[in-house]
Amino acid sequence: MLDPDFRVAAMTGAGVSAESGIATFRGLGGHWENARPEELATPQAFAADHLKVWRFYEARRVQCANCSPNPAHLGLARLEEALCDRFTLITQNVDGLHAMAGSRRILELHGNIWRVRCLECGEEVEDRTAPFPELPPMCGCGGMLRPAVVWFGESLPGEIFESAFQEAAASSIFLVAGTSAVVEPAAGLARIAASHGAKVWEVNPEETPLSYICEKTWRAPAGEVMDEVVDLILSKCQD
Ligand code: OAD
Repeated sequence: MLDPDFRVAAMTGAGVSAESGIATFRGLGGHWENARPEELATPQAFAADHLKVWRFYEARRVQCANCSPNPAHLGLARLEEALCDRFTLITQNVDGLHAMAGSRRILELHGNIWRVRCLECGEEVEDRTAPFPELPPMCGCGGMLRPAVVWFGESLPGEIFESAFQEAAASSIFLVAGTSAVVEPAAGLARIAASHGAKVWEVNPEETPLSYICEKTWRAPAGEVMDEVVDLILSKCQD
């Protein structure tokens, strides 16, 4: 039987989508190897050159449209299936692959690349057109659309971050997978979990600033070990 107090939260980053063929941000071949984030992922960059920013997001949308979930996404969906509302997935990813894998309780800290928001009327909708016939895409009201993702210098969606904070604080195990853990406030969630008594586990081929607080670590690609991690979590949650 499931221990009723046992809760799990997982926070994922770009590394969990790497095996689906989506580039990470940092490291070899990452988006930020050849471009600075402040030139592409800030409101100032969009104001200065919206076409340049849209071309970057358009290329990522086209790339994501051709990618499928990998065993890391599928393993986390299996964990949710087993734990139901005792599991929450917190992601910094905007690619939508967790939902495609079957996860339902997803807190998207940095928005979603498949959503667009009008700069004039503020309406936000899902739009899976990739590529758009013309850039920048426009809203029915005549205003320019922007990707509904969180850029550097912008606040995270308040309710989503608050929920993520609560889930981190309530978790028995907090799994961190595929993130360099250098972007706040997302990275801080693991510390919040640890300070409330959670065991922090990490899946990442590389060491991160969170590694020192982790009780368990898998130095391997997430797609190769997620099933083992999920099985271990499920073995811990029995009464
Ligand atoms: P990063 O690109 O910073 O980090 C990716 C991490 O994934 C690194 O620590 C890699 O070692 C690891 N990794 C690579 N391949 C992996 C694999 N197969 N399995 C597991 N881990 C693997 O990506 P994030 O941490 O997600 O924000 O970046 C955080 C935020 O910074 C992003 O949401 C984005 C970015 O700038 C905004 O755009 C606002």
